[in-house]
Amino acid sequence: MKKALVRIFVALVLAGAGAIAWAMRFPEIAPIAKPDAAKFDKELVKRGEKLAGLGNCHVCHTKPGGKEFAGGLALPTPFGTIHTTNITPDVETGIGSWSEQAFIRAMHEGVDRHGRNLYPAFPFDYYSKVTEADLKAIYAFLMSRPAVSQKPTDNSLAFPFNIRLLLAGWNFLFHEKGEFKPDPSKDAEWNRGAYLVEGLGHCGACHTPRNMFGAAPKSGTNVYAGAVAEGWYVPPLNASTPAPIPWTAKALVNYLIDGWDGHHGIAAGPMTAVATDLYEQSEDDVFAIAAYVMSIKGGPRPQAEQEKITTEALATATKLEWGHPEAPPVPNDPVMQKGAKVFEAQCSTCHKQGGKPAPLGLATVLYAPDASNLILATFKGIQPPRGVLDRSMPPREAQISDDEMTALATFIRARFTKKPAWTGTEALVKKIRSGAH
Ligand code: HEC
Ligand code: HEC
Ligand code: HEC
Repeated sequence: MKKALVRIFVALVLAGAGAIAWAMRFPEIAPIAKPDAAKFDKELVKRGEKLAGLGNCHVCHTKPGGKEFAGGLALPTPFGTIHTTNITPDVETGIGSWSEQAFIRAMHEGVDRHGRNLYPAFPFDYYSKVTEADLKAIYAFLMSRPAVSQKPTDNSLAFPFNIRLLLAGWNFLFHEKGEFKPDPSKDAEWNRGAYLVEGLGHCGACHTPRNMFGAAPKSGTNVYAGAVAEGWYVPPLNASTPAPIPWTAKALVNYLIDGWDGHHGIAAGPMTAVATDLYEQSEDDVFAIAAYVMSIKGGPRPQAEQEKITTEALATATKLEWGHPEAPPVPNDPVMQKGAKVFEAQCSTCHKQGGKPAPLGLATVLYAPDASNLILATFKGIQPPRGVLDRSMPPREAQISDDEMTALATFIRARFTKKPAWTGTEALVKKIRSGAH
């Protein structure tokens, strides 16, 4: 009931703003003949390919087993399921008849060639910060790829969210237009990082919690405060991170390029594709991203303090590892005993003293508000990012019962952190198993 009222409220506000935005609606941009791929400058195309990687375009615009950039990936949102479109240069089903101007308008304004508003599941609210020069390079890259004929799948959105005009209201209320403007009080590296993180990198699309309108704020205390993406807990990028060892620029660079850092572990779930794409970028750009993220965190701690916390956290986490002589005994409680038994049988071959993975006590996800990522990683396993292909973890969904998973999560949280027990784990295990999470 409350949910229904919220939905009606959301719809009414959007409708009101939509009426205003209607007056400022976008005209159609005339179709063009498909550009000749050979005419684009080779260097421009190469630059566009890198930039498209930074924007993770292929991640969303490719369905599992499908042709790259041909769309069809289903994106579940609180308002229904949205499918990505075909952005290959096919004239009938893709963007083959789109002029450069139509493409830039889509990226900056969230409006398609016909003038229809696009859903913000397409992170145009970040891409709007990207310069025209960079967008022209991406356009050249996309247009010189093979055309794939694949009709976009229809969206299944609940009424009234299937009315695109309401998005004009969303756009009016939440879309801060305008390319990125450098801050002259900051150095070039910071500005480059800010441009990449706030623009093509669209880090906030996952790391910033969305409001009830599905909009991620770009300023205020909630920015980069951590959220949920595709059912995965996304840790905060700001100072509120629960990571036991505070992040440094060096650790960020390791994590972002390789997808792994010895003090923090792996980039799993939806972060894997981000790290894999960053692996292909220039080191300078990743250093710039790290510099900007460090400033979001409020800057580095004094070196002595950082070293002290790191040494202590490492020592604590190491002593908790399975098989460590100083490791605490398993509490005499049936759930803990059961969880420890599962851990010994299914996890301790790798997660043990001197094992290959970073100590579990350092994994941010164990300090998360719920067990989502632990359960998802256990069920689905980890297919590591490009930079650390040897760090995979096998899926265990078939080998582990709901009761065992619940006991395992309860045990792991108690053993490796000093945080209070997770609540709702049993229901969460069932939800994730059923695919409804
Ligand atoms: C987080 C997922 C996501 C990412 C990343 C993403 N897109 Fe999209 N994109 C979408 C969705 C969803 C739509 C369809 C929106 C709609 O139907 O209203 C879309 C639509 C578009 C459209 C409009 C196409 C049309 O036929 O109307 C263009 C152009 C586009 N994306 C280009 C890009 C480019 C270029 C990148 C990389 C820089 C990119 N997208 C990255 C989700 C994404
Ligand atoms: C598609 C969603 C998504 C996008 C986009 C994304 N992230 Fe992430 N990020 C995640 C998830 C999910 C995790 C948790 C990974 C895990 O469970 O191992 C994560 C983890 C991280 C962490 C580790 C945090 C910690 O305390 O352990 C950092 C740092 C990070 N991301 C930085 C970035 C940066 C910088 C960008 C933009 C260049 C970015 N992310 C874009 C989803 C995303
Ligand atoms: C074959 C070795 C192997 C086994 C078995 C294994 N893991 Fe892992 N696990 C890894 C590797 C490798 C990583 C990546 C982290 C690293 O290398 O530092 C990882 C990461 C994790 C993470 C961090 C996930 C994230 O989102 O960042 C958790 C939690 C985890 N494992 C729990 C488990 C549990 C629970 C089990 C038993 C059901 C298990 N693992 C079994 C190798 C393994």
